[in-house]
Amino acid sequence: MSQESRNAGAPQYAPDTVVVAGGRPPHEPGRGVNVALELSTTFHANGELAYARDDNAQWRAVEEVVAALEGANDGVCFASGIATITAVASLVPVGGTVVAPRHPYSGTRGRLEQLAAAGRFTLRSVDISDADAVAQAMTGADWAILESPTNPTMGICDLRAACAAAHAQGARVAVDNTFATPLGQRPMSLGADLVLHSATKSLSGHSDALLGVIVGDDPALIEALRVERVLGGAIAGPFEAMLVLRGLRTLAVRYERAVSNAGELAQRLEQHPRVEQVRYPGLPSDPGHPVARQQMAAFGAIIGVLVDGDGDTAEAVSNGVQLWSHATSLGGVESLIERRARWPFEHPDLPANHLRLSVGIENLDDLWADLDAALRRA
Ligand SMILES: Cc1ncc(COP(=O)(O)O)c(C=O)c1O
Repeated sequence: MSQESRNAGAPQYAPDTVVVAGGRPPHEPGRGVNVALELSTTFHANGELAYARDDNAQWRAVEEVVAALEGANDGVCFASGIATITAVASLVPVGGTVVAPRHPYSGTRGRLEQLAAAGRFTLRSVDISDADAVAQAMTGADWAILESPTNPTMGICDLRAACAAAHAQGARVAVDNTFATPLGQRPMSLGADLVLHSATKSLSGHSDALLGVIVGDDPALIEALRVERVLGGAIAGPFEAMLVLRGLRTLAVRYERAVSNAGELAQRLEQHPRVEQVRYPGLPSDPGHPVARQQMAAFGAIIGVLVDGDGDTAEAVSNGVQLWSHATSLGGVESLIERRARWPFEHPDLPANHLRLSVGIENLDDLWADLDAALRRA
């Protein structure tokens, strides 16, 4: 395994080329155009690979593509998105301080709260859309683990301001970029030290593989994460990495379609008589829109909706759809709808009538007709 920055000196292709052309074997006569799937767990001695927990060609290909998309030098794959949170948390000095959103992905909150309760570090949870509160929370912090937009409340953090405030205090910043994808937002360019993804979502895009990726520029951080992967053991299976790489090849076209569908649905939902409020950073009415406009190239495919009614009404909408799937998760080609408050581990602040919509790439009018009918019936 080369410890050198993998993307240093790589050609600077546009993102929609990188997803197709990145992470391929060299163009040599007789070589496959795809990375071969390596299932051996051990290798004859004295070669580049020794043992499968250390490295894998499929991981490297995924890392190369995601790092290039994010404008980072290097990356490290993990078994899941939540394993990347655990890995970043492992970088926090014992007894240190971590700043995190008050309403991040519930698993992130659960993991950070669990580690804080065990005395591993102090956790400061902050309203991520309040730039002054975020800046203040950085005082004496060691790491900030940020998310924007947040899952599922669609809070927008001014990432440039947050990174500057953290760095002024000597803190490092990791940004969970799962919702926006690197095509919608590039936190490295806003000052982040690390960017992480649940590649389970849009990067793989087919709801059939779990994987996480962290990318960054600092070789010391990347090496620490590789050591954490080898010794923590949260490694991705090569087959999962192959599925993610295959999904990445179509990310640009999938994302373009899903974002276009989401933008149109958000506008229509805003006018719907059974809808109380829509949260989508692309809507001019959204409180996060002014910041989102500055830092996002596209506004993503996730929408938050408060239905006019209570939790039962929202549940009836999710149960009433036929084309949409009532299911958790997000970022796949198929549209999903879910009342996140149905989970006991979701934040108690989340309104009971909130629905999270993950918009896929189906025909827009079919999606609208199904959703509109479910809203009217509920
Ligand atoms: C923003 C975000 N980060 C991290 C995760 C965790 O990812 P995984 O399910 O791949 O462990 C999720 C999962 O929903 C997520 O939405």
